[in-house]
Amino acid sequence: MQVVKNIDEVRAQVREWKTQGLTVGLVPTMGYLHDGHASLIDASRRDNDRTVVSVFVNPMQFGPTEDFESYPRDLERDSKLVEVHGGDIIFNPEPYEMYHEGFSSFVDMTVLTQELCGLSRPVHFRGVCTVVSKLFNIVKPDRAYFGKKDAQQLAVIRHMVDDLNMDIEIIGCPIVRESNGLAMSSRNTYLSDAEKKAALVLSKAVFLGMDMVKNGEKNSSVIIGKMKKLIEAEPLARIDYVKIVDSATMQQIPILNRPVLCAMAVYIGSTRLIDNFFTDEIGGGSHGNINA
Ligand code: PAF
Repeated sequence: MQVVKNIDEVRAQVREWKTQGLTVGLVPTMGYLHDGHASLIDASRRDNDRTVVSVFVNPMQFGPTEDFESYPRDLERDSKLVEVHGGDIIFNPEPYEMYHEGFSSFVDMTVLTQELCGLSRPVHFRGVCTVVSKLFNIVKPDRAYFGKKDAQQLAVIRHMVDDLNMDIEIIGCPIVRESNGLAMSSRNTYLSDAEKKAALVLSKAVFLGMDMVKNGEKNSSVIIGKMKKLIEAEPLARIDYVKIVDSATMQQIPILNRPVLCAMAVYIGSTRLIDNFFTDEIGGGSHGNINA
């Protein structure tokens, strides 16, 4: 496993693989990898001959008051995880390698990005679309892997790939949870012990919503109302949104007459966390992918 900092070098390596007829999977990340990322690497390894993991904290997707500076970084730790899971390359460019002086081209989207997280993070998806397009152009993977925890990001990327005829298969992978239910996130490291306990309201609300759907509740506002009530009972929690939307268009759905996405963003102290469930993925009995 090698760490490559340079665009030309990663391109040369991928070109060599392609001339040997090998397929390439890309796992785009911002590093500080956890078992959720590991599951993406595992999925890529299952589907492809070679796997590139990009580790790049993308300044363009953070707003001016957001956590770009404090975002956790630990390349040594990331390298170990990628190595253990059989990734072939970490692509870890410096910001100037990705955004040279005079950089002025962006990939933006007028739909999907004005909903949910886009409302409180207005520059976020432009930054994501731009960096992911760049990573696709640099690595030219056959497939790219994204976690379903960022359900809106996944929908945005699928839409971008379709709109711009990018010849890449996008694979969404299930949320990985701690044994207590908390969805894995690099941002969980910001939480104090008390906040970690408080953060369990997100998954509790997800599980409550899932149970209501399983028991036949079809009215979105009833489901959202109960989920919000549960979250509001936690003094350290402040809701950004809890919404039930079409999983492709992100438009709100009042009655569950087809599969939908129930997504939430909640501040725990000053840390903004997200969680969600897709109604067509609710299993019988269990609450998904608990990483015991
Ligand atoms: O999901 C993330 O970690 C980031 O948004 C991504 C896709 C790596 C782009 O910077």
